[in-house]
Amino acid sequence: MSEAHHRTTHRGAIRPRERDAVVQSLRAGMVPRRGQHLIQVGRVEEIKALIDDINRIAGGGAGSRFVIGRYGSGKTFFLHLVRSIALEKRLVTVHADLSPDRRLQSTGGQARSLYAELMTNMATRAKPEGGALASVVERFVSQALTQARDEGVDVEQVIRSRLDQLGELTGGYDFAEVVAAYWRGHDTGDEQLKSNAVRWLRAGYGTRTEARQALGVRTIIDDASFYDHLKLLARFVTMAGFGGLLVCLDEMVNLYKITHTQSRNANYEQILRILNDSFQGTATHLGFLFGGTPEFLTDPRRGLYSYTALQSRLEENAYADADSGLVDHSGPVLRLENLSQEDFYVLLTKLRHVHAYGDPERYLLPDEALTAFMDHCAQRIGEAYFRTPRTTIKKFLDLLAVLEQNPGADWRTLLGRLDIAPETAPEPYDSGDGGEAAPSPGRSPRGSGGDDLVDFRL
Ligand SMILES: Nc1ncnc2c1ncn2[C@@H]1O[C@H](COP(=O)(O)OP(=O)(O)OP(=O)(O)O)[C@@H](O)[C@H]1O
Ligand SMILES: [Mg+2]
Repeated sequence: MSEAHHRTTHRGAIRPRERDAVVQSLRAGMVPRRGQHLIQVGRVEEIKALIDDINRIAGGGAGSRFVIGRYGSGKTFFLHLVRSIALEKRLVTVHADLSPDRRLQSTGGQARSLYAELMTNMATRAKPEGGALASVVERFVSQALTQARDEGVDVEQVIRSRLDQLGELTGGYDFAEVVAAYWRGHDTGDEQLKSNAVRWLRAGYGTRTEARQALGVRTIIDDASFYDHLKLLARFVTMAGFGGLLVCLDEMVNLYKITHTQSRNANYEQILRILNDSFQGTATHLGFLFGGTPEFLTDPRRGLYSYTALQSRLEENAYADADSGLVDHSGPVLRLENLSQEDFYVLLTKLRHVHAYGDPERYLLPDEALTAFMDHCAQRIGEAYFRTPRTTIKKFLDLLAVLEQNPGADWRTLLGRLDIAPETAPEPYDSGDGGEAAPSPGRSPRGSGGDDLVDFRL
């Protein structure tokens, strides 16, 4: 980076890495994993509520929230935003999308598979992109070493006494054994032993025999121990010096899609357990965020409301609803309204700002172009174009990209040529994994964006 560039960055402009991450994900139709704050609009109260949750978790409490919104309303965006706040507040986060192969409860490996995915995506402030599990375990060891040195006691002893606390929890004995094995590997320079331990912790062993041979423990992380291990992990990360664990589960609608009633209810029962633990304060340093659509919550036949015990816990405050204009963010359900037209305008100004590295001198479009863009979308897509902004955001950034690369181009001409189609919500039943990392083709007319630059060819 040049001196001059460095100086502008210092003045509070936007770092190129962050800018690129935001622009590239949005152009690919994905929610950015970092830098969300740069384009965030609205949701002030919701974010405040979640910051309170994070503080409570860091203080030793628990918290569960259901982030409920329609197709394209911003659930995934919100989850990632909260996740990045949690990282800033020194929590460890894990996140995953539910899918037919990843569930909270199962007997065919789907819960273990969800656990493994969560571990792959484990993030800390130092490793916000994921893959942080090994470094968290390492951190546990170095914390123990520091404590042993400061107190002039044997490190073995420090580690033992910490691990003893884990032993009190369900499944804690073997979890502690595995961490102890990691420590032995660390102490003796046995890299294999260390990596075996990490593999066990990320649910990487499929059979007990294998795990016994590698680490001398009798159990593995499997379907049945999914939630117990999250609780253990929450305790463990605090011993490693973090504030707690935030678990973000998106695409919860996949549970609603399970046709087999018993399997679906088994998953809902797991949610009930989680919720009860947070309400009763039995879980500590642990929070859950569930992202889902309204039918996932309220559908009386297959939604969470079909499970009586959940309905009574999740029913919303009757005094606060869209009609009354009143809100209540103290309950576990947090409704995300779709973005408004005003939000969308602000979003465009932020996109322009991010695209220009935070330097108004580098803006590629005047304000009037933003309104012209909105008018254009309204004409092509209809009045509610701002409600599901994935495609429009993408098109707007495409426009900026062309202007950037073709300094002589006129935005009016380009805008006139911009073809844009409405986004349609998927049928609740047309499964697909719905993972944002690999957008499924039938999901939205993101497909029509595949050749977006064609529209702009000069
Ligand atoms: N508060 C916000 N500020 C700025 N941009 C947002 C906000 N909320 C959503 N977006 C943008 O709107 C688009 C749709 O958001 P997102 O993908 O999070 O919706 P969703 O509710 O998860 O959709 P789906 O139902 O398909 O899972 C994304 O491009 C996202 O970046
Ligand atoms: Mg989503």
